[in-house]
Amino acid sequence: MMDDSSSQALFERIAIDLLRDGYSILPNAFPEPLSKALSAHSQRVDTDAFKDAGIGRSTEHMILETVRKDAISWITADTPVGSLWLAWAASLQLYLNRRLFLGLFSFESHFAHYAPGAFYKRHFDAFKGDTNRIVSLVAYLNHNWQPTDGGEIVIFKNDADVAGLKVPPRFGTLAVFLSEDFAHEVLPTTVDRHSIAGWFRVNTSTTKAVDPPR
Ligand code: OGA
Ligand code: MN
Repeated sequence: MMDDSSSQALFERIAIDLLRDGYSILPNAFPEPLSKALSAHSQRVDTDAFKDAGIGRSTEHMILETVRKDAISWITADTPVGSLWLAWAASLQLYLNRRLFLGLFSFESHFAHYAPGAFYKRHFDAFKGDTNRIVSLVAYLNHNWQPTDGGEIVIFKNDADVAGLKVPPRFGTLAVFLSEDFAHEVLPTTVDRHSIAGWFRVNTSTTKAVDPPR
């Protein structure tokens, strides 16, 4: 696990922001060697590995091209970049559990590719009562992002917030937020746009319903 002091300072900043605001936006946040690996990965993304994203879990895939138009590829530890990413996410999970007593139990994440014209309309990653995704983590992989490229994530602070907080998807930027509390959207991109979206979950298994992580 990577737990060098630079990541510890970053993790503390995320914890403080989550406590105070419920979200944290951090530019230039990737530690080495993760940054190098993600950079190399984003230069040679194999779009064949991406599936068009569906809404919800596994079923109901064809729906709602009107809601989201990205293509995704789930991340596993089978590749060097996947294993570095998952190790880093695991050390963040451990930090947040120790610092905020969140009881995060697992982490799932995917690469996402938004082709020109793609977007993802305003949504929540989790619904109250249906709680298992607790913390959302998005990492941006776009070198040389320009304002005309679009594809910003907009994070809404509450239901009445229509302007939101607009965050450019620049390489190295991390957006972390409480999954149930922050609706967000991805504005249409005019260029190929790459990101990682991930979720820390709690275990909501009961004796009646087993809830395995993916
Ligand atoms: C998601 C999501 C945001 C982004 O996949 O749920 O909101 O900026 N992604 O890629
Ligand atoms: Mn989302």
